[in-house]
Amino acid sequence: MSSKNILTLGIETSCDETSASVVLNGRKVLSNVVYSQIDSHKKFGGVVPEIASRAHLEKICPVVDEALKEANVTFKDIDVIAVTNGPGLIGALLVGVSYAKGLSYAIKKPLVGVNHIVGHIYANFLESDFAPPFLCLVVSGGHSHIFMVEDFGKFKLLGKTIDDAAGEAFDKIARALGLGYPGGPAIQQVAENGDEDAVIFPVAQIKNSELDFSFSGLKSAVLNYLNQQRQKGSNIKIENVAASFQKAVVKALVEKTLEALKITKSSTLALAGGVAANKRLREEFLKISEELGIKVNFPPIKFCTDNAAMIACAGYYKFLAGETSDFTLDAYAVSDF
Ligand code: KG4
Ligand code: ZN
Repeated sequence: MSSKNILTLGIETSCDETSASVVLNGRKVLSNVVYSQIDSHKKFGGVVPEIASRAHLEKICPVVDEALKEANVTFKDIDVIAVTNGPGLIGALLVGVSYAKGLSYAIKKPLVGVNHIVGHIYANFLESDFAPPFLCLVVSGGHSHIFMVEDFGKFKLLGKTIDDAAGEAFDKIARALGLGYPGGPAIQQVAENGDEDAVIFPVAQIKNSELDFSFSGLKSAVLNYLNQQRQKGSNIKIENVAASFQKAVVKALVEKTLEALKITKSSTLALAGGVAANKRLREEFLKISEELGIKVNFPPIKFCTDNAAMIACAGYYKFLAGETSDFTLDAYAVSDF
Protein backbone atom coordinates (compact mmCIF):
# COMPACT_ATOMS: atom_id res chain seq x y z
CA MET A 1 0.00 0.00 0.00
CA SER A 2 1.24 3.52 -0.80
CA SER A 3 2.86 5.47 2.02
CA LYS A 4 2.15 8.83 0.31
CA ASN A 5 -0.80 10.76 1.68
CA ILE A 6 -3.62 10.66 -0.87
CA LEU A 7 -6.60 13.01 -0.83
CA THR A 8 -9.71 11.74 -2.60
CA LEU A 9 -12.62 13.97 -3.53
CA GLY A 10 -15.78 11.85 -3.52
CA ILE A 11 -18.95 12.86 -5.39
CA GLU A 12 -22.37 11.23 -4.96
CA THR A 13 -25.55 12.16 -6.87
CA SER A 14 -27.25 8.80 -7.50
CA CYS A 15 -30.60 9.60 -5.85
CA ASP A 16 -31.81 12.50 -3.71
CA GLU A 17 -28.63 13.54 -1.88
CA THR A 18 -26.03 15.82 -3.45
CA SER A 19 -22.86 14.99 -1.55
CA ALA A 20 -19.13 15.76 -1.73
CA SER A 21 -16.42 14.63 0.63
CA VAL A 22 -12.66 14.87 1.07
CA VAL A 23 -11.09 11.72 2.51
CA LEU A 24 -7.45 11.22 3.46
CA ASN A 25 -5.91 7.84 2.59
CA GLY A 26 -9.34 6.31 2.05
CA ARG A 27 -10.35 6.32 5.71
CA LYS A 28 -10.01 9.68 7.43
CA VAL A 29 -12.99 11.89 6.61
CA LEU A 30 -11.88 15.54 6.42
CA SER A 31 -15.31 16.69 5.24
CA ASN A 32 -18.60 15.10 4.19
CA VAL A 33 -21.19 17.60 2.96
CA VAL A 34 -24.63 16.13 2.25
CA TYR A 35 -27.39 18.27 0.79
CA SER A 36 -30.65 16.39 1.16
CA GLN A 37 -33.43 17.12 -1.35
CA ILE A 38 -36.06 15.46 0.87
CA ASP A 39 -38.12 18.65 1.23
CA SER A 40 -38.47 18.93 -2.57
CA HIS A 41 -39.73 15.33 -2.88
CA LYS A 42 -41.78 14.95 0.31
CA LYS A 43 -45.04 16.26 -1.11
CA PHE A 44 -44.90 13.63 -3.87
CA GLY A 45 -44.38 10.76 -1.39
CA GLY A 46 -41.12 9.66 -3.07
CA VAL A 47 -38.22 10.82 -5.23
CA VAL A 48 -39.21 12.52 -8.51
CA PRO A 49 -36.30 11.85 -10.92
CA GLU A 50 -36.57 15.09 -12.91
CA ILE A 51 -36.68 17.21 -9.75
CA ALA A 52 -33.68 15.28 -8.40
CA SER A 53 -31.55 15.94 -11.52
CA ARG A 54 -32.33 19.66 -11.48
CA ALA A 55 -31.56 19.98 -7.78
CA HIS A 56 -28.22 18.17 -8.22
CA LEU A 57 -27.36 20.58 -11.01
CA GLU A 58 -28.05 23.54 -8.74
CA LYS A 59 -26.19 22.15 -5.74
CA ILE A 60 -23.18 20.28 -7.11
CA CYS A 61 -20.83 23.30 -7.32
CA PRO A 62 -21.65 24.81 -3.89
CA VAL A 63 -21.57 21.37 -2.21
CA VAL A 64 -18.10 20.57 -3.63
CA ASP A 65 -16.85 24.06 -2.68
CA GLU A 66 -18.15 23.56 0.85
CA ALA A 67 -16.47 20.12 1.12
CA LEU A 68 -13.10 21.61 0.08
CA LYS A 69 -13.53 24.52 2.48
CA GLU A 70 -14.41 22.30 5.43
CA ALA A 71 -11.41 20.07 4.71
CA ASN A 72 -9.27 23.18 4.43
CA VAL A 73 -7.93 22.19 0.99
CA THR A 74 -8.20 23.46 -2.60
CA PHE A 75 -8.59 21.63 -5.91
CA LYS A 76 -4.77 21.69 -6.21
CA ASP A 77 -4.46 19.38 -3.19
CA ILE A 78 -6.82 16.71 -4.54
CA ASP A 79 -5.08 13.58 -5.88
CA VAL A 80 -8.05 11.48 -7.06
CA ILE A 81 -11.68 12.18 -8.03
CA ALA A 82 -14.14 9.39 -7.24
CA VAL A 83 -17.72 9.54 -8.49
CA THR A 84 -20.76 7.26 -8.28
CA ASN A 85 -21.58 6.22 -11.85
CA GLY A 86 -24.31 3.67 -11.08
CA PRO A 87 -26.70 2.22 -10.17
CA GLY A 88 -29.24 4.99 -9.57
CA LEU A 89 -31.42 7.54 -11.32
CA ILE A 90 -29.74 8.09 -14.67
CA GLY A 91 -30.33 11.86 -14.89
CA ALA A 92 -29.12 12.32 -11.31
CA LEU A 93 -26.00 10.19 -11.87
CA LEU A 94 -25.13 12.09 -15.05
CA VAL A 95 -24.82 15.34 -13.08
CA GLY A 96 -22.13 13.88 -10.81
CA VAL A 97 -20.36 12.00 -13.60
CA SER A 98 -20.27 15.03 -15.93
CA TYR A 99 -19.02 17.26 -13.13
CA ALA A 100 -16.31 14.77 -12.14
CA LYS A 101 -15.15 14.32 -15.74
CA GLY A 102 -14.96 18.07 -16.26
CA LEU A 103 -13.04 18.51 -13.02
CA SER A 104 -10.65 15.66 -13.80
CA TYR A 105 -9.88 17.29 -17.17
CA ALA A 106 -9.45 20.74 -15.63
CA ILE A 107 -7.20 19.80 -12.69
CA LYS A 108 -5.52 16.89 -14.50
CA LYS A 109 -6.17 14.37 -11.76
CA PRO A 110 -7.29 10.75 -12.17
CA LEU A 111 -10.96 9.85 -12.25
CA VAL A 112 -12.48 6.71 -10.71
CA GLY A 113 -16.06 5.51 -11.28
CA VAL A 114 -17.58 3.84 -8.22
CA ASN A 115 -20.52 1.43 -7.95
CA HIS A 116 -22.95 2.86 -5.39
CA ILE A 117 -23.57 -0.52 -3.69
CA VAL A 118 -19.81 -1.06 -3.34
CA GLY A 119 -19.65 2.46 -1.87
CA HIS A 120 -22.13 1.41 0.84
CA ILE A 121 -19.95 -1.59 1.73
CA TYR A 122 -16.86 0.65 1.99
CA ALA A 123 -18.64 2.93 4.49
CA ASN A 124 -17.50 0.29 7.00
CA PHE A 125 -13.88 1.38 6.51
CA LEU A 126 -14.43 5.08 7.26
CA GLU A 127 -12.88 6.30 10.51
CA SER A 128 -12.08 2.68 11.30
CA ASP A 129 -9.43 0.00 10.76
CA PHE A 130 -12.03 -2.61 9.80
CA ALA A 131 -10.87 -4.80 6.90
CA PRO A 132 -11.91 -7.83 4.79
CA PRO A 133 -12.74 -10.67 4.86
CA PHE A 134 -16.33 -10.29 6.09
CA LEU A 135 -19.92 -11.04 5.18
CA CYS A 136 -21.85 -7.88 4.32
CA LEU A 137 -25.60 -7.24 4.38
CA VAL A 138 -26.31 -4.20 2.19
CA VAL A 139 -29.83 -2.87 2.75
CA SER A 140 -30.95 0.44 1.30
CA GLY A 141 -33.81 2.06 -0.58
CA GLY A 142 -32.83 0.39 -3.83
CA HIS A 143 -30.86 -2.68 -2.73
CA SER A 144 -30.92 -5.70 -0.48
CA HIS A 145 -27.83 -7.83 -1.07
CA ILE A 146 -25.64 -10.27 0.84
CA PHE A 147 -21.99 -10.28 -0.25
CA MET A 148 -18.93 -12.12 0.88
CA VAL A 149 -16.23 -9.44 0.78
CA GLU A 150 -13.10 -11.53 0.35
CA ASP A 151 -10.71 -8.62 -0.10
CA PHE A 152 -10.70 -4.98 -1.24
CA GLY A 153 -12.37 -5.07 -4.65
CA LYS A 154 -13.21 -8.79 -4.40
CA PHE A 155 -16.90 -9.48 -3.74
CA LYS A 156 -19.00 -12.61 -4.12
CA LEU A 157 -22.75 -11.95 -4.39
CA LEU A 158 -24.55 -14.63 -2.36
CA GLY A 159 -28.12 -13.37 -2.42
CA LYS A 160 -30.36 -10.43 -3.19
CA THR A 161 -33.96 -9.35 -3.30
CA ILE A 162 -36.04 -10.84 -6.07
CA ASP A 163 -38.50 -7.91 -5.91
CA ASP A 164 -38.59 -4.88 -3.57
CA ALA A 165 -35.61 -3.70 -1.53
CA ALA A 166 -35.97 -3.52 2.27
CA GLY A 167 -35.87 0.31 2.29
CA GLU A 168 -38.43 0.45 -0.51
CA ALA A 169 -40.78 -1.67 1.66
CA PHE A 170 -40.26 0.74 4.58
CA ASP A 171 -41.03 3.69 2.29
CA LYS A 172 -44.17 2.11 0.78
CA ILE A 173 -45.63 1.01 4.11
CA ALA A 174 -44.86 4.40 5.68
CA ARG A 175 -46.79 6.00 2.83
CA ALA A 176 -49.76 3.66 3.38
CA LEU A 177 -49.70 4.55 7.09
CA GLY A 178 -49.56 8.27 6.26
CA LEU A 179 -46.12 8.65 7.82
CA GLY A 180 -44.46 10.43 4.89
CA TYR A 181 -41.07 10.07 3.18
CA PRO A 182 -38.47 8.70 3.89
CA GLY A 183 -40.32 5.85 5.53
CA GLY A 184 -37.57 4.05 7.46
CA PRO A 185 -36.87 6.66 10.15
CA ALA A 186 -40.61 7.48 10.43
CA ILE A 187 -41.60 3.82 10.95
CA GLN A 188 -38.76 3.32 13.43
CA GLN A 189 -39.93 6.28 15.49
CA VAL A 190 -43.64 5.37 15.52
CA ALA A 191 -42.82 1.68 16.18
CA GLU A 192 -41.14 2.60 19.46
CA ASN A 193 -44.60 3.06 21.00
CA GLY A 194 -46.11 -0.02 19.35
CA ASP A 195 -46.50 -3.71 20.12
CA GLU A 196 -44.45 -5.63 17.55
CA ASP A 197 -46.37 -8.84 18.27
CA ALA A 198 -49.76 -7.22 17.63
CA VAL A 199 -49.99 -8.48 14.03
CA ILE A 200 -48.03 -11.44 12.67
CA PHE A 201 -46.94 -10.59 9.12
CA PRO A 202 -45.40 -13.32 6.92
CA VAL A 203 -41.68 -13.61 6.19
CA ALA A 204 -41.17 -14.92 2.67
CA GLN A 205 -39.37 -18.19 2.07
CA ILE A 206 -38.16 -18.51 -1.50
CA LYS A 207 -37.97 -22.00 -2.91
CA ASN A 208 -34.47 -23.15 -3.94
CA SER A 209 -32.79 -19.83 -3.16
CA GLU A 210 -32.16 -19.72 0.55
CA LEU A 211 -30.13 -16.48 0.46
CA ASP A 212 -32.48 -14.35 -1.65
CA PHE A 213 -34.96 -11.92 -0.15
CA SER A 214 -38.52 -11.01 -1.10
CA PHE A 215 -40.43 -8.13 0.43
CA SER A 216 -43.37 -7.72 -1.95
CA GLY A 217 -45.45 -10.41 -0.15
CA LEU A 218 -44.92 -8.66 3.18
CA LYS A 219 -45.86 -5.33 1.62
CA SER A 220 -49.10 -6.83 0.22
CA ALA A 221 -49.87 -8.48 3.57
CA VAL A 222 -49.62 -5.13 5.38
CA LEU A 223 -51.73 -3.35 2.72
CA ASN A 224 -54.36 -6.14 2.85
CA TYR A 225 -54.46 -5.95 6.64
CA LEU A 226 -55.01 -2.17 6.49
CA ASN A 227 -57.81 -2.58 3.90
CA GLN A 228 -59.55 -5.30 5.91
CA GLN A 229 -59.40 -3.26 9.10
CA ARG A 230 -60.77 -0.20 7.28
CA GLN A 231 -63.60 -2.25 5.74
CA LYS A 232 -64.51 -3.60 9.16
CA GLY A 233 -64.45 -0.05 10.51
CA SER A 234 -61.82 -1.10 13.08
CA ASN A 235 -59.60 1.43 14.71
CA ILE A 236 -56.11 0.89 13.22
CA LYS A 237 -53.27 1.29 15.69
CA ILE A 238 -50.55 2.68 13.43
CA GLU A 239 -47.85 2.13 16.09
CA ASN A 240 -48.68 -1.58 16.25
CA VAL A 241 -48.71 -2.01 12.47
CA ALA A 242 -45.40 -0.14 12.13
CA ALA A 243 -43.77 -2.20 14.89
CA SER A 244 -45.10 -5.52 13.54
CA PHE A 245 -43.99 -4.66 10.00
CA GLN A 246 -40.54 -3.60 11.21
CA LYS A 247 -40.22 -6.85 13.15
CA ALA A 248 -41.04 -8.89 10.01
CA VAL A 249 -38.43 -7.02 7.90
CA VAL A 250 -35.78 -7.46 10.59
CA LYS A 251 -36.68 -11.16 10.91
CA ALA A 252 -36.28 -11.70 7.15
CA LEU A 253 -32.92 -9.89 7.07
CA VAL A 254 -31.62 -11.73 10.15
CA GLU A 255 -32.73 -15.19 8.97
CA LYS A 256 -31.00 -14.90 5.58
CA THR A 257 -27.88 -13.38 7.08
CA LEU A 258 -27.64 -16.19 9.65
CA GLU A 259 -27.95 -18.70 6.82
CA ALA A 260 -25.17 -16.91 4.90
CA LEU A 261 -22.95 -16.88 8.01
CA LYS A 262 -23.49 -20.63 8.33
CA ILE A 263 -22.69 -21.30 4.67
CA THR A 264 -19.60 -19.06 4.51
CA LYS A 265 -18.43 -19.84 8.07
CA SER A 266 -17.55 -16.15 8.26
CA SER A 267 -16.80 -14.91 11.77
CA THR A 268 -17.24 -11.24 10.82
CA LEU A 269 -20.35 -9.46 9.61
CA ALA A 270 -20.84 -5.88 8.44
CA LEU A 271 -24.05 -3.98 7.77
CA ALA A 272 -24.37 -1.22 5.17
CA GLY A 273 -26.95 1.05 3.51
CA GLY A 274 -29.73 3.30 4.79
CA VAL A 275 -31.72 0.50 6.46
CA ALA A 276 -28.58 -0.41 8.45
CA ALA A 277 -29.35 2.79 10.40
CA ASN A 278 -32.40 1.00 11.85
CA LYS A 279 -32.21 0.70 15.63
CA ARG A 280 -34.23 -2.52 15.88
CA LEU A 281 -32.04 -4.18 13.21
CA ARG A 282 -28.84 -3.12 14.99
CA GLU A 283 -30.14 -4.43 18.34
CA GLU A 284 -30.94 -7.80 16.79
CA PHE A 285 -27.50 -8.13 15.19
CA LEU A 286 -25.78 -7.12 18.43
CA LYS A 287 -27.66 -9.94 20.18
CA ILE A 288 -26.54 -12.36 17.46
CA SER A 289 -22.98 -11.12 17.80
CA GLU A 290 -23.00 -12.05 21.49
CA GLU A 291 -24.81 -15.35 21.02
CA LEU A 292 -22.62 -16.60 18.16
CA GLY A 293 -19.38 -14.92 19.21
CA ILE A 294 -19.00 -13.18 15.85
CA LYS A 295 -17.81 -9.63 15.22
CA VAL A 296 -20.49 -7.27 13.86
CA ASN A 297 -19.55 -3.91 12.38
CA PHE A 298 -21.97 -1.01 11.74
CA PRO A 299 -20.88 2.20 10.04
CA PRO A 300 -21.91 5.34 11.97
CA ILE A 301 -25.47 6.30 10.94
CA LYS A 302 -24.27 9.32 8.90
CA PHE A 303 -22.25 6.90 6.71
CA CYS A 304 -25.14 4.39 6.32
CA THR A 305 -27.40 6.69 4.32
CA ASP A 306 -26.13 8.13 1.03
CA ASN A 307 -22.92 10.15 1.35
CA ALA A 308 -19.82 10.91 -0.70
CA ALA A 309 -17.28 9.80 1.95
CA MET A 310 -18.07 6.14 1.23
CA ILE A 311 -17.60 6.84 -2.51
CA ALA A 312 -14.23 8.50 -1.85
CA CYS A 313 -13.19 5.47 0.21
CA ALA A 314 -14.18 2.97 -2.50
CA GLY A 315 -12.56 5.18 -5.17
CA TYR A 316 -9.32 5.36 -3.21
CA TYR A 317 -9.00 1.56 -3.06
CA LYS A 318 -9.77 1.27 -6.79
CA PHE A 319 -7.13 3.93 -7.46
CA LEU A 320 -4.57 1.95 -5.41
CA ALA A 321 -5.46 -1.11 -7.52
CA GLY A 322 -4.81 0.95 -10.69
CA GLU A 323 -8.48 0.93 -11.70
CA THR A 324 -8.92 4.48 -12.94
CA SER A 325 -11.44 5.54 -15.57
CA ASP A 326 -11.03 7.65 -18.70
CA PHE A 327 -13.37 10.27 -20.13
CA THR A 328 -15.59 7.60 -21.67
CA LEU A 329 -16.85 6.88 -18.12
CA ASP A 330 -20.63 6.63 -18.38
CA ALA A 331 -23.52 6.46 -15.94
CA TYR A 332 -25.71 3.35 -15.74
CA ALA A 333 -29.07 2.91 -14.02
CA VAL A 334 -28.90 -0.79 -13.19
CA SER A 335 -26.02 -2.57 -11.48
CA ASP A 336 -24.34 -5.79 -12.64
CA PHE A 337 -24.87 -7.07 -9.08
O1 KG4 B 1 -28.71 4.06 1.38
P1 KG4 B 1 -29.81 5.04 1.19
O2 KG4 B 1 -29.63 6.42 1.77
O3 KG4 B 1 -30.18 5.23 -0.31
C1 KG4 B 1 -30.20 4.20 -1.26
O4 KG4 B 1 -29.13 3.82 -1.77
O5 KG4 B 1 -31.33 3.70 -1.51
O6 KG4 B 1 -31.11 4.36 1.82
C2 KG4 B 1 -32.32 5.03 1.90
C3 KG4 B 1 -33.33 4.05 2.48
C4 KG4 B 1 -34.74 4.60 2.47
O7 KG4 B 1 -35.59 3.60 1.95
C5 KG4 B 1 -35.03 4.87 3.94
O8 KG4 B 1 -36.39 4.71 4.28
C6 KG4 B 1 -34.17 3.80 4.61
O9 KG4 B 1 -32.99 3.76 3.84
N1 KG4 B 1 -33.83 4.16 6.00
C7 KG4 B 1 -34.22 3.43 7.06
C8 KG4 B 1 -33.76 4.13 8.22
N2 KG4 B 1 -33.08 5.24 7.80
C9 KG4 B 1 -33.12 5.24 6.44
N3 KG4 B 1 -34.93 2.28 7.14
C10 KG4 B 1 -35.20 1.80 8.36
N4 KG4 B 1 -34.82 2.42 9.50
C11 KG4 B 1 -34.10 3.57 9.49
N5 KG4 B 1 -33.73 4.15 10.63
ZN1 ZN C 1 -27.49 4.36 -1.24
